[in-house]
Amino acid sequence: MGVSIENLTDHLGAEVRGADLSAPVDAETRARLNRAFSERGVLAIRGRKLAPAQMLDAVRVFGEVFVQHNTTFALPECPEIHYISNQDKYPDGKRYIPGAGWHTDHSNDVRPPKATVLHAVTLPSSGGDTQFANMTAAYEALPDATKQRLEGRMAIHVYQNSHSTRKLMGLPDAAKERVPNAVLHPIARVHPETGRRSIYVNPIRIEGIVGMDHKEALPLLDELLEHATSERFQYRHKWEPGDLVIWDNRRLLHKANGDYDMNEMRYLYRVMLKGSVPA
Ligand code: SIN
Repeated sequence: MGVSIENLTDHLGAEVRGADLSAPVDAETRARLNRAFSERGVLAIRGRKLAPAQMLDAVRVFGEVFVQHNTTFALPECPEIHYISNQDKYPDGKRYIPGAGWHTDHSNDVRPPKATVLHAVTLPSSGGDTQFANMTAAYEALPDATKQRLEGRMAIHVYQNSHSTRKLMGLPDAAKERVPNAVLHPIARVHPETGRRSIYVNPIRIEGIVGMDHKEALPLLDELLEHATSERFQYRHKWEPGDLVIWDNRRLLHKANGDYDMNEMRYLYRVMLKGSVPA
Protein backbone atom coordinates (compact mmCIF):
# COMPACT_ATOMS: atom_id res chain seq x y z
CA MET A 1 0.00 0.00 0.00
CA GLY A 2 1.26 3.56 -0.72
CA VAL A 3 0.43 4.89 2.73
CA SER A 4 1.18 8.52 3.64
CA ILE A 5 1.05 9.89 7.22
CA GLU A 6 1.08 13.68 7.77
CA ASN A 7 0.87 15.58 11.05
CA LEU A 8 -2.32 17.60 11.57
CA THR A 9 -1.03 19.99 14.26
CA ASP A 10 2.36 20.43 15.89
CA HIS A 11 1.35 18.48 19.02
CA LEU A 12 -1.48 16.08 18.10
CA GLY A 13 -3.06 14.11 15.27
CA ALA A 14 -1.99 12.65 11.95
CA GLU A 15 -3.84 12.13 8.71
CA VAL A 16 -3.41 8.78 6.98
CA ARG A 17 -4.06 8.38 3.27
CA GLY A 18 -3.81 5.33 1.05
CA ALA A 19 -4.45 2.68 3.74
CA ASP A 20 -7.14 0.29 2.49
CA LEU A 21 -8.71 -0.97 5.69
CA SER A 22 -11.37 -2.96 3.85
CA ALA A 23 -8.70 -5.62 3.11
CA PRO A 24 -6.17 -7.40 5.38
CA VAL A 25 -3.40 -4.99 6.46
CA ASP A 26 0.19 -6.18 5.98
CA ALA A 27 2.63 -6.35 8.91
CA GLU A 28 4.66 -3.30 7.88
CA THR A 29 1.59 -1.04 7.49
CA ARG A 30 0.19 -2.35 10.77
CA ALA A 31 3.45 -1.43 12.55
CA ARG A 32 3.53 2.05 10.93
CA LEU A 33 -0.09 2.76 11.88
CA ASN A 34 0.47 1.64 15.47
CA ARG A 35 3.63 3.73 15.75
CA ALA A 36 1.80 6.78 14.39
CA PHE A 37 -1.07 6.19 16.83
CA SER A 38 1.36 5.97 19.72
CA GLU A 39 3.20 9.14 18.67
CA ARG A 40 0.27 11.32 17.55
CA GLY A 41 -2.71 10.27 19.77
CA VAL A 42 -5.30 10.75 16.98
CA LEU A 43 -5.24 9.16 13.52
CA ALA A 44 -7.67 10.37 10.87
CA ILE A 45 -7.63 7.56 8.34
CA ARG A 46 -9.22 8.73 5.12
CA GLY A 47 -10.90 5.91 3.27
CA ARG A 48 -14.16 4.55 2.11
CA LYS A 49 -17.27 3.26 3.75
CA LEU A 50 -16.75 0.02 5.66
CA ALA A 51 -19.41 -2.55 6.48
CA PRO A 52 -19.64 -3.37 10.24
CA ALA A 53 -17.60 -6.59 9.92
CA GLN A 54 -14.92 -4.75 7.91
CA MET A 55 -14.74 -2.02 10.56
CA LEU A 56 -14.18 -4.64 13.27
CA ASP A 57 -11.35 -6.21 11.27
CA ALA A 58 -9.86 -2.75 10.67
CA VAL A 59 -9.85 -1.71 14.34
CA ARG A 60 -8.23 -5.01 15.37
CA VAL A 61 -5.08 -3.62 13.72
CA PHE A 62 -4.80 -1.51 16.91
CA GLY A 63 -6.02 -3.84 19.65
CA GLU A 64 -8.80 -5.98 21.07
CA VAL A 65 -12.43 -4.89 21.07
CA PHE A 66 -13.82 -3.60 24.41
CA VAL A 67 -17.48 -4.28 25.31
CA GLN A 68 -19.21 -0.87 25.51
CA HIS A 69 -21.52 -0.19 28.45
CA ASN A 70 -24.82 1.09 27.09
CA THR A 71 -26.20 -1.76 24.98
CA THR A 72 -29.13 0.46 23.88
CA PHE A 73 -26.86 1.70 21.09
CA ALA A 74 -25.45 -1.66 19.94
CA LEU A 75 -26.00 -2.58 16.28
CA PRO A 76 -28.29 -5.67 16.38
CA GLU A 77 -26.30 -7.38 13.63
CA CYS A 78 -22.90 -6.59 15.20
CA PRO A 79 -23.19 -5.68 18.93
CA GLU A 80 -19.48 -4.88 19.39
CA ILE A 81 -20.24 -1.79 17.31
CA HIS A 82 -22.44 0.94 18.75
CA TYR A 83 -23.92 3.78 16.76
CA ILE A 84 -23.68 7.53 17.33
CA SER A 85 -26.75 9.30 15.98
CA ASN A 86 -28.42 12.69 16.29
CA GLN A 87 -31.86 11.09 15.85
CA ASP A 88 -32.37 9.65 19.36
CA LYS A 89 -34.43 11.39 22.06
CA TYR A 90 -34.27 11.41 25.85
CA PRO A 91 -37.39 9.99 27.58
CA ASP A 92 -38.62 13.64 27.95
CA GLY A 93 -38.53 14.08 24.13
CA LYS A 94 -35.42 16.31 23.99
CA ARG A 95 -32.85 15.45 21.34
CA TYR A 96 -29.83 13.47 22.58
CA ILE A 97 -26.45 14.40 21.09
CA PRO A 98 -24.01 11.71 22.26
CA GLY A 99 -20.68 13.06 23.45
CA ALA A 100 -21.69 16.73 23.44
CA GLY A 101 -19.37 17.85 26.21
CA TRP A 102 -15.68 17.27 26.98
CA HIS A 103 -15.11 13.74 28.21
CA THR A 104 -13.01 10.58 27.97
CA ASP A 105 -14.83 7.35 27.25
CA HIS A 106 -16.02 4.90 29.90
CA SER A 107 -13.63 6.12 32.63
CA ASN A 108 -16.04 4.48 35.10
CA ASP A 109 -14.62 1.11 34.06
CA VAL A 110 -11.87 -0.58 36.06
CA ARG A 111 -9.92 -0.83 32.78
CA PRO A 112 -11.20 2.05 30.63
CA PRO A 113 -10.82 1.61 26.86
CA LYS A 114 -7.40 2.67 25.57
CA ALA A 115 -8.91 3.95 22.34
CA THR A 116 -12.17 4.79 20.63
CA VAL A 117 -12.74 4.50 16.89
CA LEU A 118 -15.47 6.28 14.95
CA HIS A 119 -16.34 5.58 11.34
CA ALA A 120 -18.40 8.14 9.42
CA VAL A 121 -21.47 6.59 7.78
CA THR A 122 -23.71 9.65 7.20
CA LEU A 123 -22.62 13.24 7.79
CA PRO A 124 -24.40 16.59 7.85
CA SER A 125 -23.50 18.95 4.99
CA SER A 126 -21.51 21.12 7.43
CA GLY A 127 -20.57 21.11 11.12
CA GLY A 128 -20.60 18.16 13.53
CA ASP A 129 -16.81 18.27 14.02
CA THR A 130 -15.17 16.34 16.85
CA GLN A 131 -12.71 18.27 19.04
CA PHE A 132 -9.79 16.66 20.84
CA ALA A 133 -7.70 18.09 23.68
CA ASN A 134 -4.18 16.92 24.48
CA MET A 135 -4.10 16.12 28.22
CA THR A 136 -0.36 15.35 28.20
CA ALA A 137 0.55 18.79 26.86
CA ALA A 138 -1.97 20.27 29.31
CA TYR A 139 -0.42 18.42 32.27
CA GLU A 140 3.10 19.44 31.31
CA ALA A 141 2.02 23.10 31.08
CA LEU A 142 0.56 23.15 34.62
CA PRO A 143 2.33 25.21 37.28
CA ASP A 144 4.48 23.04 39.60
CA ALA A 145 2.21 23.92 42.54
CA THR A 146 -0.82 22.43 40.73
CA LYS A 147 1.15 19.32 39.75
CA GLN A 148 2.00 18.87 43.44
CA ARG A 149 -1.64 19.32 44.39
CA LEU A 150 -2.58 16.46 42.04
CA GLU A 151 0.21 14.15 43.21
CA GLY A 152 -1.27 10.85 44.46
CA ARG A 153 -4.85 12.16 44.20
CA MET A 154 -7.56 9.72 43.14
CA ALA A 155 -10.88 10.67 41.55
CA ILE A 156 -14.11 8.71 42.00
CA HIS A 157 -15.60 7.80 38.58
CA VAL A 158 -19.25 6.72 38.24
CA TYR A 159 -21.56 6.14 35.26
CA GLN A 160 -23.24 9.54 35.72
CA ASN A 161 -22.24 11.94 38.48
CA SER A 162 -24.72 13.88 40.60
CA HIS A 163 -23.52 17.39 39.66
CA SER A 164 -23.06 17.40 35.85
CA THR A 165 -25.55 19.41 33.80
CA ARG A 166 -25.04 17.05 30.85
CA LYS A 167 -27.08 13.86 31.20
CA LEU A 168 -26.36 10.46 29.71
CA MET A 169 -28.97 7.98 28.52
CA GLY A 170 -29.79 5.52 31.33
CA LEU A 171 -28.35 2.01 31.26
CA PRO A 172 -30.64 -0.95 30.53
CA ASP A 173 -31.01 -3.26 33.59
CA ALA A 174 -28.80 -6.03 32.15
CA ALA A 175 -25.98 -3.53 31.51
CA LYS A 176 -26.30 -2.08 35.06
CA GLU A 177 -25.27 -5.46 36.46
CA ARG A 178 -21.88 -5.45 34.75
CA VAL A 179 -20.99 -1.72 34.95
CA PRO A 180 -19.12 -0.91 38.19
CA ASN A 181 -20.82 1.47 40.67
CA ALA A 182 -17.67 3.49 41.29
CA VAL A 183 -13.97 3.16 40.53
CA LEU A 184 -10.92 5.18 41.59
CA HIS A 185 -8.38 6.48 39.07
CA PRO A 186 -5.44 8.89 39.46
CA ILE A 187 -6.12 12.48 38.32
CA ALA A 188 -2.66 12.56 36.78
CA ARG A 189 -2.15 9.23 35.02
CA VAL A 190 1.02 7.87 33.45
CA HIS A 191 0.71 6.68 29.85
CA PRO A 192 1.77 3.00 29.67
CA GLU A 193 3.59 3.50 26.34
CA THR A 194 5.04 7.03 26.48
CA GLY A 195 5.66 7.15 30.25
CA ARG A 196 4.36 10.75 30.24
CA ARG A 197 1.71 12.10 32.59
CA SER A 198 -1.71 13.36 31.50
CA ILE A 199 -4.57 15.04 33.28
CA TYR A 200 -7.34 12.43 33.60
CA VAL A 201 -10.58 14.28 34.34
CA ASN A 202 -14.10 13.62 33.09
CA PRO A 203 -16.75 16.22 33.96
CA ILE A 204 -19.74 13.91 33.58
CA ARG A 205 -18.24 10.90 35.37
CA ILE A 206 -16.16 12.19 38.28
CA GLU A 207 -18.23 12.33 41.45
CA GLY A 208 -15.43 13.76 43.58
CA ILE A 209 -11.83 13.47 44.75
CA VAL A 210 -10.89 11.09 47.54
CA GLY A 211 -10.06 12.96 50.78
CA MET A 212 -11.04 16.40 49.42
CA ASP A 213 -14.41 17.98 50.11
CA HIS A 214 -16.63 19.08 47.22
CA LYS A 215 -16.01 22.78 47.94
CA GLU A 216 -12.37 22.30 47.07
CA ALA A 217 -12.64 19.39 44.59
CA LEU A 218 -15.25 20.75 42.16
CA PRO A 219 -13.51 24.11 41.53
CA LEU A 220 -10.19 22.25 41.11
CA LEU A 221 -11.76 19.94 38.50
CA ASP A 222 -13.31 22.95 36.72
CA GLU A 223 -9.97 24.76 36.74
CA LEU A 224 -8.18 21.71 35.27
CA LEU A 225 -10.83 21.32 32.57
CA GLU A 226 -10.69 24.96 31.57
CA HIS A 227 -6.90 24.89 31.36
CA ALA A 228 -6.75 21.56 29.50
CA THR A 229 -9.33 22.42 26.85
CA SER A 230 -7.84 25.76 25.84
CA GLU A 231 -7.40 26.07 22.09
CA ARG A 232 -3.62 25.62 22.12
CA PHE A 233 -4.08 21.99 23.24
CA GLN A 234 -6.73 21.12 20.66
CA TYR A 235 -7.15 19.43 17.30
CA ARG A 236 -10.57 19.79 15.64
CA HIS A 237 -11.55 17.06 13.23
CA LYS A 238 -13.72 17.96 10.23
CA TRP A 239 -15.32 14.75 9.06
CA GLU A 240 -15.20 13.48 5.48
CA PRO A 241 -17.26 10.52 4.20
CA GLY A 242 -15.51 7.22 4.92
CA ASP A 243 -13.21 8.64 7.64
CA LEU A 244 -12.13 6.26 10.36
CA VAL A 245 -10.77 8.18 13.33
CA ILE A 246 -9.02 6.48 16.24
CA TRP A 247 -7.96 8.35 19.39
CA ASP A 248 -6.18 7.58 22.63
CA ASN A 249 -8.52 7.96 25.61
CA ARG A 250 -5.61 7.69 28.04
CA ARG A 251 -4.29 11.13 27.09
CA LEU A 252 -7.11 13.01 25.35
CA LEU A 253 -10.51 14.47 26.03
CA HIS A 254 -12.95 14.75 23.14
CA LYS A 255 -16.27 16.36 22.40
CA ALA A 256 -18.93 16.21 19.66
CA ASN A 257 -20.48 19.39 18.27
CA GLY A 258 -24.24 19.61 17.81
CA ASP A 259 -23.89 22.78 15.72
CA TYR A 260 -25.53 21.62 12.46
CA ASP A 261 -29.02 21.39 10.99
CA MET A 262 -30.76 18.66 13.01
CA ASN A 263 -32.95 17.81 10.02
CA GLU A 264 -29.78 16.36 8.58
CA MET A 265 -28.53 13.00 9.77
CA ARG A 266 -25.19 12.47 11.54
CA TYR A 267 -24.53 8.76 12.01
CA LEU A 268 -21.26 7.01 12.83
CA TYR A 269 -20.19 3.58 14.01
CA ARG A 270 -18.23 3.45 17.27
CA VAL A 271 -15.88 0.75 18.58
CA MET A 272 -13.66 0.87 21.67
CA LEU A 273 -10.43 -1.02 22.32
CA LYS A 274 -9.43 -2.68 25.59
CA GLY A 275 -7.17 -0.72 27.95
CA SER A 276 -5.41 -1.34 31.26
CA VAL A 277 -5.89 -0.11 34.85
CA PRO A 278 -4.79 3.58 34.90
CA ALA A 279 -1.66 4.14 37.00
C1 SIN B 1 -18.32 10.22 21.33
O1 SIN B 1 -18.10 10.99 22.24
O2 SIN B 1 -18.14 9.01 21.45
C2 SIN B 1 -18.85 10.75 20.01
C3 SIN B 1 -18.05 11.86 19.43
C4 SIN B 1 -18.68 12.39 18.18
O3 SIN B 1 -19.80 12.03 17.82
O4 SIN B 1 -18.05 13.23 17.52
